[in-house]
Amino acid sequence: MSLEAEVRQLKDDRHAVLLAHNYQRPEVQDVADFVGDSLYLSRKAMETDRPVIVFAGVRFMAETAKILNPSRTVLLPDLKAGCGLADSITADLLRDWKAQHPAAVVVAYINTSAEVKAEADYCCTSSNAIKVVSGIPADREILFLPDMFLGDYVRRKTGRKMHLWVGDCPVHAKMRPEDLLRARAEHPGAPVLAHPECGCASQVLPHVDHVLSTDGMVRFAEETRAPEVLVATEVGILHRMRQLNPTTKFTPLDEGTVCPFMKQIDLTDVRDSLLLGQHVIDVPPEIAARARLALERMVAS
Ligand code: 13P
Ligand code: SF4
Repeated sequence: MSLEAEVRQLKDDRHAVLLAHNYQRPEVQDVADFVGDSLYLSRKAMETDRPVIVFAGVRFMAETAKILNPSRTVLLPDLKAGCGLADSITADLLRDWKAQHPAAVVVAYINTSAEVKAEADYCCTSSNAIKVVSGIPADREILFLPDMFLGDYVRRKTGRKMHLWVGDCPVHAKMRPEDLLRARAEHPGAPVLAHPECGCASQVLPHVDHVLSTDGMVRFAEETRAPEVLVATEVGILHRMRQLNPTTKFTPLDEGTVCPFMKQIDLTDVRDSLLLGQHVIDVPPEIAARARLALERMVAS
C-alpha cells in the first residue's frame, strides 16, 4: 500500500480529521481533509465531530485547536514544528508590557503560545486583524503583538493608535522592499500579492496590489485571469494556487522563502502520528479557559 493510501486508511480507522496549513508540503496537503489559513483551520477544528484532530501545521495552531475543542485528542506529528514569530514574546514579557499600559486592550495574533493568548483580550489572524481591531471601542488604547509588520499594516488601515510589539516572522521579515521593487520591474503588469507579515509589504504598500492572508491569496488565485501573479509569502502556498488555476503563472517573489517550521512534518510523520497517536497536544485547563475567550472572539469575527 502506498504511504498516501496508508494515511487515508488510518484516518478512517482512527476517526481522525487531518487539517493542513497552506504552507505544508504538497503531499501532506493532498491527503488532508481541509487545507487553509489559520482562521479557516481554527473553525474547522472547532466544528469537527471526529474525536481526533491531526494538525499538519505548527504548534500554536494545534494548541488553538485543543483550546477551541477540548474534548478532542489533538496530535501534532512533529514537536519541532514551532514558530519563530510566536517565540518572540512570552507570557512574562507580555505581563510586563501590560503593567506599563494598565488600561490597554490586548490583541494577540494567533501566532502566539497558549500562555500568551491567556493574557490577551482578543486574538486575530491575518485575515481578520483589521476587523477585530476596528471592533474595539475607539477610545481604548491597544497593545498589538507580536508581529510589528502586521501591526503596522493594521494601524495604517484602521487609523487606530496601537502600541506594537517589536517581533517579526524570520521568514517573511527578510523580504526586502528592494526585492519587491526589482521583481515588479522584471515582471511588468503582474499583480503582487503579499502576506502582511512581510517586511517589504508594509514599507512599500503602494507597490503591493493586495495584502492578503494565505486563504485570501488562494481565493485570488482561483478568480484571477492575469497571465502572471507575483507571490510574496512562504512558497508552500504555490502548490494550491497552481492546482486551482493551471492557466496563470504563479511566481514567488523569492524561491528561498521557506519556513523551516512548516516543513518539519512529512507524510511519514503524519502516518506515524495516526498509527501511534503522537504527539498529543495538551493545554493546562486554567490557561485554556483564559485563552478561550480571546480565541472565541477571533473565530466570531
Ligand atoms: P495565515 O493565517 O495567513 O495562513 O498565516 C499563518 C502564518 O503563519 C503566516 O506566516
Ligand atoms: Fe511562524 Fe513565520 Fe513560519 Fe508563519 S512563516 S509559521 S509566522 S515562522
